[in-house]
Parts: sequence; C-alpha cells; structure tokens
Amino acid sequence: MKKEVLMAMAAGLLLSVSVCAQRLPSSDEMNHFVTTLMSRMTLDEKLGQLHQLPGGNIVTGSPQTSPVGKLAMEGKLGSVFNIKDVEQIVALQHLAVEKSRLGIPLLVAMDVIHGYETVFPVPLGLSCTWDMEAVERSAQIAAAEAAANGVAWTFSPMVDIALDSRWGRQAEGAGEDPYMGSQVAAAMVRGYQGNVMNGGKDGIMACVKHFALYGAAEAGLDYNTADMSRLRMYNQYFPPYKAAVEAGAGSIMSSFNIVDGVPATANKWLLTDVLRRQWGFCGMVVTDYASIGEMKNHGLGGLKESAAQALKAGTDMDMCANGFLSTLKQSLDEGTVTMADIDQACRRVLEAKYRLGLFQNPYKFGDVKTAKKLTYCKEHREAARRITAESFVLLKNANGVLPLKKQGTIALIGPLIDTHTDITGSWAVAQAPEKYKSLREGFAEALKGKAKLLCAQGCNLMDNAQTQRTVGKGHGNEPIPFVDADAALAEAISMAREADVVVCAMGECAWMNGEGTSRTDLELYAPQRRLLEAVAELGKPVVLLNFAGRATVLTWEAAHIPAIMNVWYGSECADALCDVLFGDVSPSGHLTVSMPRATGQEPLYYNRLPSGRYVQDGEADYKVFTGNYLDATSGALYPFGYGLTYSSFAYSDVRLSSSRMSADGTVTASVTLTNTGQREATEVVQLYIHDKVASISRPIKELKDFQRVTLKAGESREVKFTVTPDKLKFYNYELQYVLEPGEFDVMIGGNSRELKTATFRVE
Ligand code: NOJ
Repeated sequence: MKKEVLMAMAAGLLLSVSVCAQRLPSSDEMNHFVTTLMSRMTLDEKLGQLHQLPGGNIVTGSPQTSPVGKLAMEGKLGSVFNIKDVEQIVALQHLAVEKSRLGIPLLVAMDVIHGYETVFPVPLGLSCTWDMEAVERSAQIAAAEAAANGVAWTFSPMVDIALDSRWGRQAEGAGEDPYMGSQVAAAMVRGYQGNVMNGGKDGIMACVKHFALYGAAEAGLDYNTADMSRLRMYNQYFPPYKAAVEAGAGSIMSSFNIVDGVPATANKWLLTDVLRRQWGFCGMVVTDYASIGEMKNHGLGGLKESAAQALKAGTDMDMCANGFLSTLKQSLDEGTVTMADIDQACRRVLEAKYRLGLFQNPYKFGDVKTAKKLTYCKEHREAARRITAESFVLLKNANGVLPLKKQGTIALIGPLIDTHTDITGSWAVAQAPEKYKSLREGFAEALKGKAKLLCAQGCNLMDNAQTQRTVGKGHGNEPIPFVDADAALAEAISMAREADVVVCAMGECAWMNGEGTSRTDLELYAPQRRLLEAVAELGKPVVLLNFAGRATVLTWEAAHIPAIMNVWYGSECADALCDVLFGDVSPSGHLTVSMPRATGQEPLYYNRLPSGRYVQDGEADYKVFTGNYLDATSGALYPFGYGLTYSSFAYSDVRLSSSRMSADGTVTASVTLTNTGQREATEVVQLYIHDKVASISRPIKELKDFQRVTLKAGESREVKFTVTPDKLKFYNYELQYVLEPGEFDVMIGGNSRELKTATFRVE
C-alpha cells in the first residue's frame, strides 16, 4: 500500500461520526482511517472519488493509455464499470494504487443482474420460483464469479415495483407485489454481499435500484414521468427498497425519473429525508447513467446547476455525466455547494471501499486462477439448471400433453431455437454464449437415440426487419436471422406434419425486454402468431414455450393451444427445459405478475384498491355503469400467484388458532394441503390478508407470506402461517405505520384468485 495511506492510517485523527442505523459496519477504525486519508486529499482528488466511468474500449487497448487508466493515475476516478477481463481490471487497479499520489483503489462495478457467466433466469423469472433460498443462491453464485473476475460491486438488485407490463424493465424486478418484492430484494442483498461488507472475503457490494418509482413510468414508457401520492409510495412502491436497505445493502442507485416534480437524481426528500433520515441508510448513493446531465432535459438547468443540486440532495457518485468532476469546484467558489457537502460524499465513497476491504488489499477482487476455477463451473451450472427449471410457469396443460415422452418424432420450431446469445435473456453483460446450448442442441442431446428431432425457425420474431435487427445487435447479441417468411412457414409446417408433437419456442428475444423496450401491444408478435395458428390447425399436441421478460397476452393461445409454459431464459435454459418437458422435474413456478387478457387492461395487478363499482374477475358480460370494459372479460387471464404442475392439490378450509388477536399478539392460520394427483410435486401455498374496514381504503387482498411445499402423490400436510401485527400494518394518511383494530380476512390458496377465507378481529 502507498506510504501516504499508511501514514494517514497511523496519524490517528479521530472524528466522531454517527453510528450507522443500518446493518452496515461502522467502526472507529474506519472513521479514523477515512478522516486521516481525507486530510491528505486535495479538492481534485476528492472530486475524483465521486467520478465514475464505464471501462470503454479498455479491453482492446492498454489500461495505461486508456482514458480511464489516465484518470486513475491522476487520482481523478473513483470507480469504473462493465469491464469483462480480470487481467485488465487488475492492471487498471495497479495504475490507481501504484501510480496515483495517494494510491486509493478503484471501486470496480458491473451490471451483474442475473448472473455472471452462469446466467440465471431474468429476475422476474427468479421471483417466479417463490424460493428465496434459490434467489439468494443465484446472487451468491453471481457474486462469486464476479468477484473472482475483479468485480467488487454489482448494480443489482433492481427492486422497482412494475405494475405495467408494457414497461420492458419489468424483466429486471420481482413483479407487481410489495411483499414478494421485499423478500426478493432482501434475499438478493444477502446473496450478493455475503460477509464482504464486514471485511469478509465472500461477496460483492449490492446496489439497490432504481430509487425510486422507476417502475411507475406512465404508460409503461421507459424513462417517462412517474407521479403518485405519498400514501401509495409508502404502502406499495417503497417496501422493497426499504427491505433491501434493512438487509444491509451498501449502495443505492437513484432513478432516471421525476419524483414529485424533481428528478430522483437530485431529490433531497428522497435521497436524504426518506433514505437516510427515515430508513437509516448509511451507504453510498450513485446516480444512474449520465442522469445528472439529463436533468437539463427535465428542465432543471445545466450541468453545473444539476451537479450541485444532486450533491446537495445526497448523491455521492456521478455515473458518467462528468458533472461532479468538471463543475463542483466552480460551484464551491460560487457558494452553491460547501466543502462539507463534497467531504460527505467523498467520505461515503471511501467508506464503501473500506468496508469492502480494498484498503487492506486492493487486489482482493480479481484472481486469474480463482476466476478460471469458478467461472461457469459445474457446480454453478447445476445450480442454475435446477433454479431455472423451478422458474418455469406452467399456464395450461390440457389432456396431460405434458410431460412429453422421449419417443416418436418431435418438432421444435420457432425463432428462438438456435440462438446462443438470446438464451440468457437481457442484461447478461458477462455472458459467454459460445459455452451455452441452444434449444436445438439441448433437445438433441436429451433425445439422442430415443426420438427423432426436427427443427425449423418457422418465422421471424416480428414483421419489422429493422426493429428485429436493432433489438438484437444493439446490445452486442447476434441478431436472429430475418428470413423469407413464406419459405420459413412452409418448412416448419411440413416438419410439424411429420411430428407426433410440436414444441414452439416463441416470444421475446433477449432484448425485447429490459431497458428501453416498451411495448404498446403485449400479444405474440404477428409472424409468430401466424405460425402458431398454422401449427394449431394440424390438430396435433402442441406445446407453446412463451419466452418473456414481462406479462404478455396469451388469450388466443389459451383458447387454441393445449399446453403453455412461460420461460424466463438463463444460460442453462435448454437443459432445464428438457428436465421439465420430459418429466424429470415437475414445474413449480408461479406468476409474480398478473397476465392480462388484453393489453388495454394494463397496468393490471391483483392487489388493487376496491372501487365502488367493481366487477368480479372473469365476468364476461358487459354491465352499464360498472368498472368493466366494453370489449374484455374482467380481470387477469392468469392471476398473480398462478402456476400449474404435473400433479394437483386440494386445500381444506382455513383454521385459525383464535378468532381474536390483540394488537401485539399473533394468530395462526392453517390449512391441510393434499396432493391429489399421481406424482410428487411442489405447491406454493400463499397467504393473503384483507383489512375490511380502515381509515383509508386498503387493497382487496395483499400477499403476506408463502411456503413452497413438496408432497408425494396422495400425501397430506398441515401448512401453518403465523399472522403477526406487521402483516396487518400499513401507512395511514399521516404516513404513520399503524395497525388499526377491526376485522381482517385471512385467505390461503395456490394463487391470488382461488382462496379459502377465514375472518378474525384485532382488538
Ligand atoms: C442504466 C440502467 O438504468 C442501470 O440499471 C444500469 O445499472 C446502468 N445503466 C449502468 O449500466
């Protein structure tokens, strides 16, 4: 380590810094170290710590001559991100540590969103496992691979509640529910961080994003305005961010959107009053990509003014806008920011580096040997295969089409059957497509020597060639070929004719969901539907694998295709699909988003507030002056929590330990669950609550607990839940978190629609 740093450590200037209310370690040693180091830093060096850039073309150039390398040597860079090359990262770190005046290590980040090289389903799919151990394990594996490859910080988890499936980034979160969102958020933070924030060696720092309300973009249009009451923020949108903070997340990313008229990037109420004062967050806040620069577009002034406002609001690091590095000095001279503002941000960045152990060992992350051993290793692949299989949601299985037998002739058709790059889903920055199996390869291996496999692309993804090409190429993927539509259809139909069963792999390629992929129409794209219609006319058993990163509309498919399963990508997707389709594993995923009957129903979510004139779900007949549509049946086609398996389950009525509960007591609610089918299978037993009369209108039902239960054919088990006061509380009109006495319904079942109910009173 640099002499200056060691001297600073020894100098011993003790400063009293408030104790962190969050679960982040905050020791006298750390305060002492950071204070001493900062006493040696120039203003430029402090601003350098607040500056973050992407690695750019460093991978093809030399770290020494790259823009980030130069800045690192000058001490003008705090963090760099999205470099996939452990040797380059280590070389860059050497420049920062050995060539800069104070030798402060860089914080190396990456968008490790659902895995590094071992890629798990997109986060929405991960949430459909309803298996928090699996979610945590996926983050742990992602962190282990990323850390070995030089990454100390991931920009994940994304915990934005997304009610509107037109918004493509629904793929990156846990869907529509605050309770599920909170469970997933906490599990991912635990999985990513391990013990690393306490000086341990396992894990990388998590970054909770996008704070806040990014998923509420109007009309599902990415980056659009979000506007809502504070009551709704606190009750519906904030819980997952708060849960992640409580789980000890070391950092938070602000969102692109406006919150209450002020961009989140520079919103003091959000970044300081709520995040730090109310929730006790004491980690660091980074902006989203260039968002300080984008404040000009929001009509909030130029780069200098925006940078000053963002800093004052509580932002610590500027991602890519170059606002902090290039303008804060002038703002300091002009008095719009103070040295204390800059010091505070710098301190938080240095604290993050300290907690991660970078001052003790700047090369803690990034080891070529470990990287070789761990990256995409067998153990990780096996875990990903198992978890991916758990994520699939079986939506329909008429006449027991599934599981399929490995015999006869099977046709595998659709635009996604040959891709290696799209199989991972969107935002797999570190993917290694050459190592993954395409669906065709996976099926061929599974069926070798047992059944004949026929494969054809069958159609384009969409009729618009330009969009199809852009959507693939834009993010470095190998675009799915745009083919002659008539010839492709004819080839696929002739194969389907020859087959005993037809499996259609369709839907969205990787980058049809994710950032900047809003849609106005959630139906299967036209050429895919045409192919499916032609296949359906053959009258054979057909299985639709609907690849998606959001809820899509499958109304026509549900009426015409016997078996439908939602698939959420992953590097091991091909093998996991064969495990489930051919019956080695029974599906157990359940939806965490409501699947609409028509796009116009969006935003559609189960935990709505009651309206005065609500029409029951499933009501097809139009009634005047009620809350239904002229042209659609009410409610979701497949509700939140829905998912089938190869067996069936029966629920007894709900039993309560008491019909009364004191405000600080508990009630136990239980059901007997029976596997009434022929095979062992897993059910997700869900508990919902409804507060029947309250001081403000409360949702018709809210998920408050769940358990995955595996039963053998014919087996029964009592499944118990403890209803605690916390499950009944909400933020009232004054934004106080309260439990109001009165009647509550407790509902238990296998999805949010089919539930058994009992009632109790809180006194
Ligand atoms: C923009 C995205 O909104 C954010 O999620 C991501 O982490 C950054 N870019 C960095 O790549």
